[in-house]
Amino acid sequence: MSIHDGADGETAADVRGQAARRRTFAIISHPDAGKTTLTEKFLLYGGVLTAGAGSVRAKGDRRATASDWMELERRRGISVTSAVVQFSYRDRVLNLLDTPGHGDFSEDTYRVLSAVDAAVMVLDGAKGIEAQTRKLFEVCRNREIPIVTFINKWDRPARDPLELLDEIEDQLVLDPVPVTWPVGEGERFSGLIDRRSGNFVRFARTAGGATTAEEETVDPARAGVEEGAAWHEATEAVELLDAAGAELDAKRFEAGELSPVFYGSALTNFGVRMLLDAIVELAPAPGARLDADDEPRPVDAGFSAVVFKVQSNMDPAHRDSMAFLRVCSGRFERGMAVVCGRTGKTLATKYAHTVVGRDRSTAEEAWPGDVIGLVNAAGLRVGDAVHAVADPVRWTAVPSFAPSSFRVARCTDTSKAKQFRSGVRQLDSEGVVQVLRRPEGGESAPILAAVGPLQFDVAEHRLRHEFGAPVELAPAPWTTARRTDQASADLLGTMSGVTVAERAEGGELLALFESPYWLARLQSDHPELTLERLIGEG
Ligand code: G4P
Repeated sequence: MSIHDGADGETAADVRGQAARRRTFAIISHPDAGKTTLTEKFLLYGGVLTAGAGSVRAKGDRRATASDWMELERRRGISVTSAVVQFSYRDRVLNLLDTPGHGDFSEDTYRVLSAVDAAVMVLDGAKGIEAQTRKLFEVCRNREIPIVTFINKWDRPARDPLELLDEIEDQLVLDPVPVTWPVGEGERFSGLIDRRSGNFVRFARTAGGATTAEEETVDPARAGVEEGAAWHEATEAVELLDAAGAELDAKRFEAGELSPVFYGSALTNFGVRMLLDAIVELAPAPGARLDADDEPRPVDAGFSAVVFKVQSNMDPAHRDSMAFLRVCSGRFERGMAVVCGRTGKTLATKYAHTVVGRDRSTAEEAWPGDVIGLVNAAGLRVGDAVHAVADPVRWTAVPSFAPSSFRVARCTDTSKAKQFRSGVRQLDSEGVVQVLRRPEGGESAPILAAVGPLQFDVAEHRLRHEFGAPVELAPAPWTTARRTDQASADLLGTMSGVTVAERAEGGELLALFESPYWLARLQSDHPELTLERLIGEG
């Protein structure tokens, strides 16, 4: 029996209530700024991890060696998979979606960010904005995602807190508004002023930050006596901020123009609770999602979800693939019949999972904002809509990023040509790399296109180990791609210094250039050519 084909009455009220309780967000940061540590601490405060229970990405984890995929992660020291964790905090349910830290995977990040309602940007207090912060921030800006800023590692020598705010404003053109302000820094970092109440929240250190930080709320008069010079310095800065009118404005935050700023230390847990409180209080709950016709689909409509990641070989013991779906509207119940909007195929949801890190448990039900994993949902692609049978929807396609690295792939063992072709198709549908074809290359020598070269390592590794197809990825000369159309493609075909290729998925035509100068020259000589920029072009 299904009660979900068009949620109404009691179900609709339930759905609205459950959606209002949820906060679905991601963390973005430059590698080493503390994303993994902060994730761990969120789980500690959410009661998922207990003291000493280990970390989300335990370094040197023994299980790591059991998986090819994780072996690659470990060897390169980077996280290349996106996972999701769900935990409760206060009376809310928080869904934290992991994003790869390395900018080479920013296309992957973009897809994850298509499934969140807010992001936490973590900065290292000694370093400020770093290269990958900027790149990932641009992705957020593109999607107009509200951003909460966490300035981390305040237990170590850090830069001037006001200077860090200036840097955010200048480099990101984002209006930073501190909600908390640090008293002391490094070893003398003792707590935070909550600008909303004027109170001082003093922390007590715990060994290695293994348990939540003990906090004491101290009124300003007493703090002045007990904290001495650091207090006066902090209050002076706060007065300056007050005078400058640095106030929180919810609308500007939700529009991605203003970012509430929190200082702290993920290592010692100082400020972590205040950050989590802010996510619960400030980040928007799941709301109506715009469909392909720009019509809002309310959260209490029939069940619908968006696929934001497809990943193979999560568990080498099963050699399966999993599609990650974020629920956009309605209630999901395991076993219900759902349809992929693009293919019209019905999908089995008997084996739906919730995924915490690498551990799966069966998902009995899910609400807007939640993430479910469908095992072996072959044929699902990033951006697909999955919906209740009677309540169809289509989402706007998730655009592909501008590739800037290219390789020509060839299978080095002719007896494995079939495995090579099916592997390349699989990697393309998962978005591991973009696959392009030229008439002369066909399926035996496709062009692999990527935002960053690390994507090729992943592609090569998986073709070899997962599909049994040894490959050679020959360097290709192109550096810039533009979207074009058939008329321009015909003309470009007669010119030198440009190659036209077709996306294997979707058939879009791309013009590939060896240098931006050549592109600029062609554009000025032939203004009639269609050469559109792709998103994410540096
Ligand atoms: P990432 O996921 O953003 O790459 O960063 P991660 O959390 O792995 O943190 C990178 C390093 O910074 C780790 O040290 C971590 O312990 C440290 N760190 C994170 N937050 C803080 C903080 O608030 N204060 C201080 N002092 N250090 C912090 P590591 O030595 O590379 O690794 P580990 O051996 O400590 O795990």
